[in-house]
Amino acid sequence: MFSPSSLLSLCSLYVLLVLVSCFNGAYSSSSSSSVPSKIGKGYRLIFAEETTDGGFIGHLEVKENNNIYGPDIPLLQLYVKHETEDRLRVHITDAEKQRWEVPYNLLPREQPPALKHTVGRSRKNPITVSEIAGPELIFSYTADPFNFAVKRKSNGQTLFNSSSYGSDSFGEMVFKDQYLEISTQLPKDASLYGLGENTQPHGIKLYPNDPYTLYTTDVSAINLNTDLYGSHPVYMDLRNVGGEPYAHAVLLLNSNGMDVFYRGNSLTYKVIGGVFDFYFLSGPTPLGVVDQYTSFIGRPAPMPYWSLGFHQCRWGYHNLSVVEDVVENYKKAQIPLDVIWNDDDHMDGHKDFTLNPVNYPRPKLLAFLDKIHKRGMKYIVIIDPGIGVNSSYGVYQRGIANDVFIKYDGEPYLAQVWPGAVNFPDFLNPKTVAWWGDEIRRFHELVPVDGLWIDMNEASNFCSGKCTIPKGKVCPSGTGPGWICCLDCKNITSTRWDNPPYKINASGLQVPIGFKTIATSAVHYNGVLEYDAHSLYGFAQSIATHKALQGLEGKRPFILSRSTYVGSGRYAAHWTGDNKGTWEDLKYSITTVLNFGIFGVPMVGADICGFYPAPTEELCNRWIEVGAFYPFSRDHANYYSPRQELYQWKTVTKSAQNALGMRYKLLPYLYTLNYMAHTSGAPIARPLFFSFPAYKECYGLSTQFLLGSSLMVSPVLEQGKTSVKALFPPGSWYSVFDMTQTIVSKGQYFTLDAPLNVVNVHLYQNTILPMQQGGMISKEARMTPFTLIVAFPIGASEAQAKGNLYLDNDELPEMKLGNGYSTYVDLYATVKEGSVKIWSEVHEDASSLEINGSPVANGAPNIELGSVEQMRLQADVEDEQGEKKPLMVEISGLNLYV
Ligand code: GLC
Repeated sequence: MFSPSSLLSLCSLYVLLVLVSCFNGAYSSSSSSSVPSKIGKGYRLIFAEETTDGGFIGHLEVKENNNIYGPDIPLLQLYVKHETEDRLRVHITDAEKQRWEVPYNLLPREQPPALKHTVGRSRKNPITVSEIAGPELIFSYTADPFNFAVKRKSNGQTLFNSSSYGSDSFGEMVFKDQYLEISTQLPKDASLYGLGENTQPHGIKLYPNDPYTLYTTDVSAINLNTDLYGSHPVYMDLRNVGGEPYAHAVLLLNSNGMDVFYRGNSLTYKVIGGVFDFYFLSGPTPLGVVDQYTSFIGRPAPMPYWSLGFHQCRWGYHNLSVVEDVVENYKKAQIPLDVIWNDDDHMDGHKDFTLNPVNYPRPKLLAFLDKIHKRGMKYIVIIDPGIGVNSSYGVYQRGIANDVFIKYDGEPYLAQVWPGAVNFPDFLNPKTVAWWGDEIRRFHELVPVDGLWIDMNEASNFCSGKCTIPKGKVCPSGTGPGWICCLDCKNITSTRWDNPPYKINASGLQVPIGFKTIATSAVHYNGVLEYDAHSLYGFAQSIATHKALQGLEGKRPFILSRSTYVGSGRYAAHWTGDNKGTWEDLKYSITTVLNFGIFGVPMVGADICGFYPAPTEELCNRWIEVGAFYPFSRDHANYYSPRQELYQWKTVTKSAQNALGMRYKLLPYLYTLNYMAHTSGAPIARPLFFSFPAYKECYGLSTQFLLGSSLMVSPVLEQGKTSVKALFPPGSWYSVFDMTQTIVSKGQYFTLDAPLNVVNVHLYQNTILPMQQGGMISKEARMTPFTLIVAFPIGASEAQAKGNLYLDNDELPEMKLGNGYSTYVDLYATVKEGSVKIWSEVHEDASSLEINGSPVANGAPNIELGSVEQMRLQADVEDEQGEKKPLMVEISGLNLYV
């Protein structure tokens, strides 16, 4: 049987083809081609001077107007500033008129100077600046035609160069109301990462001539190389200069739809609105880049401890008894489980914030929640943005009363999603944010959920255009006919927003940009057009939802969002959307997960075993072996798929016990990585080049990944295989499942045994890994004794190892030191001529570190290993009743490997 999504995709494809042919003519042609257009002579700089804030401002005059994609904007304002030691901003906008930009309240940053167009016009060539140098990045330009370059001081490399001089493969900069184009030269051997969200069959390294279209879209993740749910116009460029690695990143902060063409030695942006707002981050390490990036766009949200446990979800848990059974079956099967989820099955008629009185009666649901909460388990439900148009539905009534919806011709814009006809809340409107918060508060009083899952927020619509409810008809809700558009809709092709002069490659098929989403001429708060704000919908909803949850009980919120934008990681986790239960999709999931680490959304995973269709038993075995090491680990399936909880198969049960068993032992490490992500942007799951940036062989590697800096997962990704060929960067590696199994690599591939229930996970030398004993629920696992695994290079006579550990009361909204409820310890060990020393440094006011019963001050003298009988870390934490209790961490085991 087809799943709704496969039907949806088939149906979408059909509708797409029909639509595309309908649009021929009305939707005038002018295609996005992979060849950059040479459509103008560019601009000339007519004025430039330093600003009082240490930046420089200039004016650019168009050299020759043409009307391809509309008239050129005659005068532009250029503003350049080294905002920090490692961040350079280049901002170009219309000098005479305010243009759309990513709102400064959604993504807080410095405002460029107010427009001063009269200045440039009134002066004759007073260009007083030739270049502007920061500590590491240098901005330089040519005046006629205007082009700019960004260079790295320390190695002389040109990182960005908008001039095609010497390459001749692209045209001059173009700046029109609805079409902006700019390119950069790149070295031939460029190794770029990022530019998503899309499913990339070629792995994490950007592949020349693959299209990268950024526009938030609900076409399922099985569509390769197309714009998907999120928009992240940022790439990292990793270069190896004379054996030395240098990484930097380039963000184009623009929310309009865009095609980015990467051709191996150049990259071209073609954007349908907004401004050029470039940020160059100097790195030079990959970790430095994500640190600089997230210090600008917002640090990733701290995640509660339990969210690092395993999650079970599916669409089609028809009633509460099924959910109860699932929880009990996990327990019986001895597979760890922290969180149980409901898709929209608990809702009444698929309406947000409601309960189906028959299948999910509130008293029974509350009793169930009470029971699982007592065990330490958590419960999460879905909410979609579409609010059912139904005059007897309180959420809708209050929405109308508060005027919270996106408008078309002065009326709430009508669309169709699971509940039937819906209106979409306008999360750019402060009134909507308040109303949404109040609805969440009301719902939380009804059902004490522990987190929220915000889906379909690209925003997804089963109809397109301007629609009305056919007279006398009620649109069906739910699956089946519910997802076929039943409204009366008219295509809107008359406005320049719905039919822009340049067509991005939307949905990979160049469909109109309003296809199956909100019409792009619909209007948000303050007259903002959907055309401009489209890709911010899920981001703005994440902010509103985060605010609401934080306001509820003052607890650390957990939100999972399908649509994301630059900065979303500050509020939400992400999953990779509707994938397929196939071997290919298992492999692609690694690339998407790793990309999201670079995007500043480190809490990310894919639907384990695939969303649809049914996975094979073998695939599900292999998937849990990968998924147990996703930062966000959740099994989720489609409505029409057969059941695929991990206990459904004996072999999968075994693989899950093994892989998740290891995850639960590693929770203190994962939680510390969560802290590192929150404080420095370091991804939880990382490409190998993050730890081995000089080791070129690993640059594009997308079949293995690291957790943190030192734990490498090398899974089986192919059917029928019982071994895996894995790349080991030079050094000693220890199998975490059996530390006596070691590999000493000179930097080569090894073939590892990998029978069905075995996943290879190796720990790198020079690491101290904090582990606990595991358990069936993270709450229990947290209370078990610690073991520090200290791994030195094999046979080393002299070496050092390092590790760290962060612990806190994870219910607190903030994750930081100094609040009296947190402990952060750096752990060190050395080996020298057979003698091993281990010591630690406790940061800030972390309560205490004791060795052998006596407190040890920071920087305590080295302790001879033989004399360590007991190490204890202590921090005061608040329990659920708000009582302060000391949290003791007994470090009972200290395992050394040399
Ligand atoms: C979307 C989501 C999927 C969910 C379904 C029903 O397709 O991506 O995860 O199960 O909607 O809510």
